[in-house]
Amino acid sequence: MNTSTTTSAARGTWGSRLTFILAAAGSAIGLGNIWRFPIATAEGGGGAFVLIYILCAAFVGLPVMLAEMVVGRAGERNPVGAIAHLGNGTNWRWIGGLGVLASFIVLSFYSVISGWTIYYMISASIGTFKETLDTDAFFAKLVAHPGKEIFYHGIFMIVTILTVAAGIRNGIERTIKIAMPILGLVLLVLLVRAVTLPGALEGLTYYLMPDFSKVTANTVLQALAQAFFSLSLGMGAIVTYGSYLRKNESLPTSAGYVVVMDTTVALLAGCIIFPALVYANLPLDKAGPGLIFQVLPQVFVQLPWQPWGGIFFGATFFLLLSIAAYTSAISLLEVSVSYFVDEKGWNRKKAAWTLGGGAFLLGIPSALSLGAVNWLTELPGIGMSLIDLLSGPLTDGALVLGALGLSLFVGWKWGLKRALVEIRKGSPEFKLTSIWAASIRFVAPVAISMILAFQLYSLFASDTPAEENSEDPVIETANF
Ligand code: TRP
Repeated sequence: MNTSTTTSAARGTWGSRLTFILAAAGSAIGLGNIWRFPIATAEGGGGAFVLIYILCAAFVGLPVMLAEMVVGRAGERNPVGAIAHLGNGTNWRWIGGLGVLASFIVLSFYSVISGWTIYYMISASIGTFKETLDTDAFFAKLVAHPGKEIFYHGIFMIVTILTVAAGIRNGIERTIKIAMPILGLVLLVLLVRAVTLPGALEGLTYYLMPDFSKVTANTVLQALAQAFFSLSLGMGAIVTYGSYLRKNESLPTSAGYVVVMDTTVALLAGCIIFPALVYANLPLDKAGPGLIFQVLPQVFVQLPWQPWGGIFFGATFFLLLSIAAYTSAISLLEVSVSYFVDEKGWNRKKAAWTLGGGAFLLGIPSALSLGAVNWLTELPGIGMSLIDLLSGPLTDGALVLGALGLSLFVGWKWGLKRALVEIRKGSPEFKLTSIWAASIRFVAPVAISMILAFQLYSLFASDTPAEENSEDPVIETANF
């Protein structure tokens, strides 16, 4: 079989390396970059956190990303099938299974939140955000009367399903080629607006000035966990995308581009958010996770050239979020779809509609868990809302476990020698062999085990929930 010709009949391939890189970057660049990264940075000592994050992304995230790409391309299958194939059908394939399950669950609540971004985009466009806006009440109303919320969750899911159902070339690739340039443009427009606002320098200083006194062991682990989440690692997403890649493409270069693009967008998101907060005189250190849906709308109504300035930049900001969420959701759905197509022989359309539909239904309890239904809002015995539980500890745990398993599989079971043979198919000149080997065998597993130990510790050892900012009852979701 010659996989380097055009679309291979059975599974499909990317049209070029560029589209693969853009698709993987689209998966990585998501709600996590725009929301979670700036907050984590401000809390973790500004520039000091950025520095630590970059080291984590470069020395742990990048090697694991490369490992995922290698497994996908060598296995030429979904995460379960690829690991089973390379590991001769051993139990290691459960790591892939965990990824399939985790990506399905993440899709369910990711789509709920993405629905909010669409609703906010529309609200901003039609000028709903006005001077007197009480954004806390605006958000509370949305989630307390879930008809609207579930409607937009459904719309978002349908668009995601249609994209995935149309296949790699005609669906995902086509979308990515349009969405990613728009994302870049929108980011640039917002960046220019933000850094030319009065007070921008103060915002940037707060954001980026290194404060090493805030750095603790916890900061390092936060940076590491954020890197995994942001790079879409540990859930089989990159394995799946890698499986559609032709043999003559360079994996290390592709992985490098994806990491650089993802990190750049995360950094720039902070350069947009912090100047805007200073401009609107909003507290910087209280920028808890309600930031996007409760705090930022108050910025838009204060921008120059009202009402159009607010309408335009408000709508643009939520467009940025919606696109980022959309290209991530596509890859989340593609993981389980590829599993049912490869392993169960389903056709792509049936798989996309069944799994997307399932994730829609599964998302409904999450949508109801922010005030609409009491016991979901405060889960008995757990004291958190369902959406907080799913998006916080459960997702974190699953992706960290997945990344650990994958590194151990490549480093110790399938073997670095075979992995290197696969890498060299597309980049015979790959030189960083020993650094990559050391990272996959030792650095990544040790670092990941530390996060896991810390997560377990903070889950069981403290009587308050592990997430900070628990004073905000409406929304304290940690991780999107
Ligand atoms: N990287 C995404 C973000 O920053 C979230 C995410 C985590 C993800 N794991 C994933 C997206 C797997 C797609 C596939 O928001």
